[in-house]
Amino acid sequence: MTKCLETDKLKAWFLAEKRELPWREQADPYAVWISEVMLQQTQVAVVLPYFQRWMQRFPTIADLAAASIDEVIKVWEGLGYYSRARYLHEGAKYLVEHFNGQLPASEERLKTIKGLGPYTIGAILSFAFHQKKAAVDGNVLRVLARYFQLEDDIAKAATVKKLRLLAESLLPDEEPWIISEALIELGATVCQRKARCMECPLRSSCLSYRNGVVDRFPVKSKGAQTEYLYRAVAVIRCQDRYLVKRGKKGEIMSDLYEFPFFPTQKERLSSQQLREIIQQQWGLMVCEKHHFPSIMQGFTRYQARLDPVLFACSEEKPVADLEWVEQDVLKQRAFSSGHRRLFEQIQALDLPLPA
Ligand code: ADE
Repeated sequence: MTKCLETDKLKAWFLAEKRELPWREQADPYAVWISEVMLQQTQVAVVLPYFQRWMQRFPTIADLAAASIDEVIKVWEGLGYYSRARYLHEGAKYLVEHFNGQLPASEERLKTIKGLGPYTIGAILSFAFHQKKAAVDGNVLRVLARYFQLEDDIAKAATVKKLRLLAESLLPDEEPWIISEALIELGATVCQRKARCMECPLRSSCLSYRNGVVDRFPVKSKGAQTEYLYRAVAVIRCQDRYLVKRGKKGEIMSDLYEFPFFPTQKERLSSQQLREIIQQQWGLMVCEKHHFPSIMQGFTRYQARLDPVLFACSEEKPVADLEWVEQDVLKQRAFSSGHRRLFEQIQALDLPLPA
């Protein structure tokens, strides 16, 4: 049986209620690409200032391709999932090399760009090139699973594939891109995790609503459980330089700066214990200057507790895999989120330089 959706009602609702968002102003493929990648796993309110800053700093694909990775990561700093920024940078360089700095309007060609998945490809083809393509993200999965009361687990790749095909089959021939974006908007603003059915234009034909089971849908199995990490962070300062680590390629924090740390058990190490480890592992003689309260840092499926202590060191000895970097230079570098907050606290201490 073919499924159908009341697209007229959805379209009228979207045209009346849609949020004014900068990437909706003109359907520029580059702006669609950047905004859709930023919007993955991130709320619109958080994305807005990042999008504005990005477009000011890198107004074209060629500008992005010509920038250094450090600058790209710095503009992205705080958005998390940094591989997205690295892929945008790589993608821009590839587009300059192979497509004259423009996004191509074909699925086959878009697929050749690393980091572009079916969702982003669908969004670019639909919103920017006005093709009859669905852009199925978590919002759309939720809307469709509820509307059709689907028992399939939306955490499964096979279900996502099935719903992508279903979404495409529901699009009208006339202005299909409006329905593509309206489905996302409905999921983002009305058919949220806690559904606001009274505001929904599709209420009267939504199967879950009609059967009084909206709260049971979508069916979604739990992904990987959160893992808790505990880290004794050694902030070591010598004159106006700090000992820091830059994440290596392939590591979760690749290209991001962090202060060095040691994994610990749940119980916090004493400053004395940390001082001894620093001496044993790196041969640095340090003395404690400040003991910070713990900082919580979430990334991917981890929840880390950072337990930082600031130490002064009189001799700037080289340490394998770490580097001494001036405070003013560090201000220009991108830190992981927890270490960025720690660095801000260090700066606020306004420590006098040793004589
Ligand atoms: N979430 C993902 N894509 C979006 C878009 N284009 N508009 C609003 N929210 C979104």
